[in-house]
Amino acid sequence: MIDDVPSLTVEALSRRRHGRAAGLDSFFDRHARAFAYYGSGKVALRDGLAGVLEPGGNVLLPAYLPDGVVEPLYELGLEPRYYAVQPTLAPDFADLERRADDDTGAVVSVDYFGFPQPGLEEVAAIAADRGWYHVDDNAHAPISRFEGRLLGTLGDLGITSLWKLLPVPNGAILYLTGDDVHAGYEPSDLAGVRDGIGPADCRFVLKSFVGDVLESNAMLRRSVEAILSERGDGDAPAVGGPKARYERSKVRMSKLSMRIVEDSDPEKIRTARRANYRAWLDVLGERADLEPVYDSLPRGICPQAFPVRAARPDAFLTELETAGVGGHTWPRLSDEVLEDPEYETATRLSREIVTLPVHQEIEPGRIAALGDRLRR
Ligand SMILES: Cc1ncc(COP(=O)(O)O)c(C=O)c1O
Repeated sequence: MIDDVPSLTVEALSRRRHGRAAGLDSFFDRHARAFAYYGSGKVALRDGLAGVLEPGGNVLLPAYLPDGVVEPLYELGLEPRYYAVQPTLAPDFADLERRADDDTGAVVSVDYFGFPQPGLEEVAAIAADRGWYHVDDNAHAPISRFEGRLLGTLGDLGITSLWKLLPVPNGAILYLTGDDVHAGYEPSDLAGVRDGIGPADCRFVLKSFVGDVLESNAMLRRSVEAILSERGDGDAPAVGGPKARYERSKVRMSKLSMRIVEDSDPEKIRTARRANYRAWLDVLGERADLEPVYDSLPRGICPQAFPVRAARPDAFLTELETAGVGGHTWPRLSDEVLEDPEYETATRLSREIVTLPVHQEIEPGRIAALGDRLRR
């Protein structure tokens, strides 16, 4: 089975890197002007915006976005306004401009799957011209660089989600890049790293190790999956509506996450993820029913996943499941977007884009070995 996220291994927990300068914490130190650790990207976004925007304003965000991302805005008394996107994932600029008014305080761009959002520079230019703050949402790929700059640090403020890169219970970063954002920032009590290892950390470690045991025993895995599906509580963090999930994410970053951040080597992770991305391109790139969202991998990019647009997403997902690959469509959109025909492109993309895992724990050669089954 190729899981869709990396899992924690005994080897990873016992690994201590040589020389602290090589770890992810010093990587962030080198690439960001100022940053703060958080449990989740959404809470990081809340604290970043709280320092510069007043309640009553509005914030422009792409419609192709997970439903929970607007929750911090509601909490701050800000109105989220979705702008339509093009099939390339670039903003529909005419739509973006149309939705802005005198109360617009910020615009969000999203570095989907670890690549800069097409049109990112134009978004930055419009924001500068109109006096809006530009939020560089790089939740997907914490170590992705574009033209030498770390994604997430290209706006006035930015976020990234460490849990999307590493086998950690939680973790995110708020980047304080612009002068105003830096000056206005007041960390809430959710900023920073927790002191001790808590029950949630222990549950996470146990779940990862049990996952590994189940991985090597297909019969046991099927029994556990059957029990879990009867109970209907498969993946607890995804349960509940966007507000409930946001409230649950209100914890400081775990000490266990910090330990893994310190011990992770960014260059090793990037190399492994890029190799896996290229392996998927090689296996699936020529299929007539699939269109890779990005068919090249510029220098510095550390992909979060390998996204493809599938002509028949359900059939493709079944094919992946049969081959033992954990793929899924992305994202779960808000009802507001799903119900509005003006966001038809975002809705279509959310049904057609399937993301395949490229994480660093996939054994080299594993994806290529699926070539005979999945190549057409
Ligand atoms: C584009 C985007 N922005 C923000 C977030 C929020 O990050 P977190 O889950 O760390 O709160 C996500 C999470 O999936 C995301 O995909």
